Amino acid sequence: MSKLLEGKKGIIFGALDEKSIAWQVALKAKEHGAEFILTNAPIAMRMGAINDLAKLCDAEIIPADATSNEDLENLIDQAVAKFGKLDFVLHSIGMSLNVRKKKAYTDINYDWMHKTFDISAISFHRVMQLLYKKEAMNDWGSIVALTYMAAQRTFPDYSEMAESKSLLESFARSFGYHFGLVNKVRVNTISQSPTMTTAGSGVGGFDAFYNYADKMSPLGNADAASCADYCVSLFSDLTRMVTMQNLFHDGGFSNMGISQEAMEIFADKQS
Ligand SMILES: NC(=O)c1ccc[n+]([C@@H]2O[C@H](COP(=O)([O-])OP(=O)(O)OC[C@H]3O[C@@H](n4cnc5c(N)ncnc54)[C@H](O)[C@@H]3O)[C@@H](O)[C@H]2O)c1
Repeated sequence: MSKLLEGKKGIIFGALDEKSIAWQVALKAKEHGAEFILTNAPIAMRMGAINDLAKLCDAEIIPADATSNEDLENLIDQAVAKFGKLDFVLHSIGMSLNVRKKKAYTDINYDWMHKTFDISAISFHRVMQLLYKKEAMNDWGSIVALTYMAAQRTFPDYSEMAESKSLLESFARSFGYHFGLVNKVRVNTISQSPTMTTAGSGVGGFDAFYNYADKMSPLGNADAASCADYCVSLFSDLTRMVTMQNLFHDGGFSNMGISQEAMEIFADKQS
């Protein structure tokens, strides 16, 4: 197998356990010859199994709360001290307080909503702004964040995460412009199929929209391992001219109207 990331260095945010999309990205990136630092919120260090992943990938772990400039500065400074400038960064972070506390969208708590935006979207701008100011990215580097189609379409119970994802995708476009101009760094979001992870299955009715998307997509739902393959391609030199895009990785779901399988479910059996 040709190694697409030989010699490339990066930071991977958001590996909590082996179901995490970021966990799968770390394994694939390692397989493709990359070296990277793993990071997650200090609290997730205690809950998750990131130490096992670090051993598998021979990677250092540097904790950072993605809402803290101080933590992120420390992370980026240490990464640059270890590797020199970086070639790739994965933002794989999401958390909604209103969803977690089962607060209805029509009765939202705005303090929690601010916190959700801070963790799930503004953290992406924060990371990019620090990388930009510290000139921490190599020319033709690649920054990727994970998003979901609720940014464009409505899914009951996805709640304020929908607006978080819209904001995240907009940050990718806006910062992608500025980063592209200074040193050809590309910034994209991957809009991933519903995936059985801690963050995913925390959303109410997740099983229903997981199964619905699976039945609507000609290729079925994309799993975390195939999302990891896509991330590797975006970190590699094979996608150097792709930037400021929201890229659907969803087995075709986003362009479907209705599938034969769904038609059979909804057909009026009386007529
Ligand atoms: N699972 C899905 O169905 C799905 C679909 C599309 C997009 N996504 C997105 O993929 C990304 C990764 O989620 P996942 O499904 O792998 O679930 P996950 O729960 O494994 O990952 C979410 C991560 O965010 C981290 N995090 C939360 N608060 C943080 C903070 N303050 N600072 C730093 N890290 C913090 C968690 O510790 C965790 O590692 C998220 O952006 C999610 O919205 C998930």
